[in-house]
Amino acid sequence: MTQAIPRIASLKNSDAFRTHLTKSGIALEFDDVLAGPADSPLGRPITIDGRRVGNRFCILPMEGWDGTTTGEPSELTTRRWRHFGISGAKLMWGCEAVAVRHDGRANPNQLMMRPETQGSIAALREALVAAHCERFGASADADLLVGLQLTHSGRFSRPDVHDRPAPLTASVHPILDRRFPSGVRLLEDDDLETLIADFVRAAKLAHGAGFTFVDIKHCHGYLGHELLGSRSRAGRFGGPVENRTRFMREIIEGIHAEVPGLMIVVRLSVFDTVPYRRGPHGTGEPDPGDTSGFGFGVLGADGMDAALDDARGVIRMLTGLGVRAICVTAGTPYYNPHVQRPALFPPVDGYDPPEDPLRGVARQIDATARLKADFPEVAFVGSAYSYLQEWLPNVGQNAVRRGLTDLVGLGRIALSYPELPADVLQGTPLRRKFICRTFSDCTTGPRMGLVSGCYPLDPHYAATPEAPRILAVRTAKGAGAPQI
Ligand SMILES: Cc1cc2nc3c(=O)[nH]c(=O)nc-3n(C[C@H](O)[C@H](O)[C@H](O)COP(=O)(O)O)c2cc1C
Repeated sequence: MTQAIPRIASLKNSDAFRTHLTKSGIALEFDDVLAGPADSPLGRPITIDGRRVGNRFCILPMEGWDGTTTGEPSELTTRRWRHFGISGAKLMWGCEAVAVRHDGRANPNQLMMRPETQGSIAALREALVAAHCERFGASADADLLVGLQLTHSGRFSRPDVHDRPAPLTASVHPILDRRFPSGVRLLEDDDLETLIADFVRAAKLAHGAGFTFVDIKHCHGYLGHELLGSRSRAGRFGGPVENRTRFMREIIEGIHAEVPGLMIVVRLSVFDTVPYRRGPHGTGEPDPGDTSGFGFGVLGADGMDAALDDARGVIRMLTGLGVRAICVTAGTPYYNPHVQRPALFPPVDGYDPPEDPLRGVARQIDATARLKADFPEVAFVGSAYSYLQEWLPNVGQNAVRRGLTDLVGLGRIALSYPELPADVLQGTPLRRKFICRTFSDCTTGPRMGLVSGCYPLDPHYAATPEAPRILAVRTAKGAGAPQI
């Protein structure tokens, strides 16, 4: 499949890009011309839950697998957060996933919010804000909104050794359970009650550390997301939707009660697919097996509108709980990465794309637009724009101008080219040598037990002794060096 997909860098003008989209039947619109700094829809401020956000760029949470084993940041973590600060984006959606306790860490180097780590995580936020103000002026933080993403990794927990899963599941799953040969442990209702209290405690610490909001993460196959789809689970947290949303609801109610004034938002995988696997020729294909009745917002024959019904129900509940912003994402990096983070080249444990990655980008933009139309009062952040590369500003401007989303979220491209928002907002041409080409090294590194980072394009990571090891893996998979 990869052979037939043209590289974005080869679509050199809007005619070529549009012709490719039309020929491929990909419904994605873009503005041919970027507006100037004074008129750019991307430069318009927005008010979210009473707080002013200076423009329409958002940095998505991006963890680096580079904290200490005790859950504190390292110099690399601080460097990444400073880069978020100099990006020019005015919304920091959680910065990165921070576990609320040890057994919920996705890797042994994930940050953890505990009384012992609160000071160092507060310092991270201060570093981000300081970098923002050094770059954009002493009072530039007046319209900068910085939150912290709180998580429990559930089925995908690996708290002690990077390649030793310690899955804590929300419900049985006919395919996913098989992927853990040493077994899974189903969390009991009492475990979940304790965990709700852990989230509330972590939110209180986040507030004390200076964050304006917390994101109660419900995406990417982690615990909160899996609970939303736990139809087959018995007890207080499974079965009917009131039970499947209990975890989310009780965390939010707990935070309202104990940390009044702390804004709460949710990052939600609004749709999903059946699990994929690497097929015989390396391309992703659906893992056979009956998964009907499993999952949350699973795309089926009825299409996107039907799949989004699950998300609509949750967002309706969230608005009733005072949540005023949703970050839309989809799927997971574990069983359908082409859905969650469209890429031309898979990470070491991935599969070749089963579709043109632009189709994955268009799908997330479409889902966001449908939800925005249903909930105009909610601020929406869209994800999965990085694969657009040179065309990101044009597609993003179009989406914001037409009200398909409120903000454009930046993930991988924020690692390779943190200052992209500032360049776009100033009307400066993009610096092509920093544009993310989706080589997936930022995921391959962690899969090999190394820190994340943009090994091909960020000079810091390119100069590390690990870079040639990752390049060797990439070359063996036929991706080679970036073509700029
Ligand atoms: C290296 C890496 C780290 C990530 N860390 C997080 C995270 O901590 N929390 C989260 O919700 N999503 C995380 N994501 C997902 C991104 O936020 C984003 O949804 C995804 O990369 C698609 O957006 P993009 O096309 O702009 O990269 C991560 C993705 C990558 C590649």
